[in-house]
Amino acid sequence: MAETVSYDAAMRRALDLAARGPVTGGNPQVGCVLLDASGTVVAEGWHHGAGTAHAEVDALSRVADARGLTAVVTLEPCNHTGRTGPCSEALIAAGVERVVYAVSDPGHESAGGAERLRSAGVEVIPGVLADEVTAFLHIWLTAVARHRPWVTVKWASTLDGRAAAADGTSRWITGTAARQRVHEQRAASDAILVGSGTVLADDPALTARGDGGELLPHQPLPVVVGERAVPADAALRHHPAGLLETGTRDLERVLAALDVRGIRRVYVEGGPTLASAIVAAGLADEYAVYLAPALLGGDRLAIGELGITTMAEARRLVITGVEQLGDDLLVTARPTEGN
Ligand SMILES: NC(=O)c1ccc[n+]([C@@H]2O[C@H](COP(=O)([O-])OP(=O)(O)OC[C@H]3O[C@@H](n4cnc5c(N)ncnc54)[C@H](OP(=O)(O)O)[C@@H]3O)[C@@H](O)[C@H]2O)c1
Repeated sequence: MAETVSYDAAMRRALDLAARGPVTGGNPQVGCVLLDASGTVVAEGWHHGAGTAHAEVDALSRVADARGLTAVVTLEPCNHTGRTGPCSEALIAAGVERVVYAVSDPGHESAGGAERLRSAGVEVIPGVLADEVTAFLHIWLTAVARHRPWVTVKWASTLDGRAAAADGTSRWITGTAARQRVHEQRAASDAILVGSGTVLADDPALTARGDGGELLPHQPLPVVVGERAVPADAALRHHPAGLLETGTRDLERVLAALDVRGIRRVYVEGGPTLASAIVAAGLADEYAVYLAPALLGGDRLAIGELGITTMAEARRLVITGVEQLGDDLLVTARPTEGN
């Protein structure tokens, strides 16, 4: 016998479905379940990525007749035509009787779905499991509301905080397990930011690769920040996702340009000058610090001048994760309020 579920349980299922979608590509991860009048799940759907059907439409495509059904969806149905049509209209056209959602759509263009549904006589119940879904979508919601991508600053340093040796070499500070995790973090990002100094010093490929060196399915766009040009023979010129040369040091401008491209997650791979400028400007949302059990001494610090002159001005962070990767540690942290 089919199981009947409460709206909370249906929303939890929708959240599980949402997590199947990609974190990259600009769109939120959204899940949807359709319930019949007795509360039995009759269809499930989720958003498979930008340019494909939204979760509601994906679920609707799995039923012959949606009249009288309740749609339980993690995000307010969108109300605008992008690469796909508005979900509010699809739900109305399908004859759905009730829409239950968790979180309002913060997008200026796409919001208004609930209002549109109500105006067509569909019952709308907002706010079910709102806290859980808000936490799940935190990065996307923050990026959309602020009109700039979520910025993760990553570096690898020795225990004494050095990011390179006196001769400028930094390969490799950490071991293979840590470096593999960096590739996974690249693959979960829309763009990678590097300073022109790192491009000139290291000629990095900045591709996201698997254990065997193979390219992972999603490749982030490499973005070079700085006034100097990328050399004609740089490895970055062969990056599968293309290359964005900004020609500027203006970080706000760079992030605004990335927002326009629908980029929500940026992974900053240094070097120290760019990372410090981002931290000093208060633009770092998260830190991914790979710490190797080695000492280098000298003056090649992972983070340089931040304009801090006294202890009271220290940037305070809260550690959100500590993980051992081979011989190295990955420390993840976020700024505390006001930092
Ligand atoms: N351990 C690690 O995780 C790691 C990671 C990356 C690099 N590294 C090492 O870091 C070293 C390179 O360091 P770096 O500090 O020269 O590299 P960088 O931060 O990549 O590049 C610095 C350059 O970026 C440009 N730039 C862009 N935005 C800027 C801003 N807002 N303010 C100031 N400058 C800005 C400037 O050049 P323009 O004149 O072109 O504007 C500046 O000289 C290498 O030895 C490399 O191996 C280590």
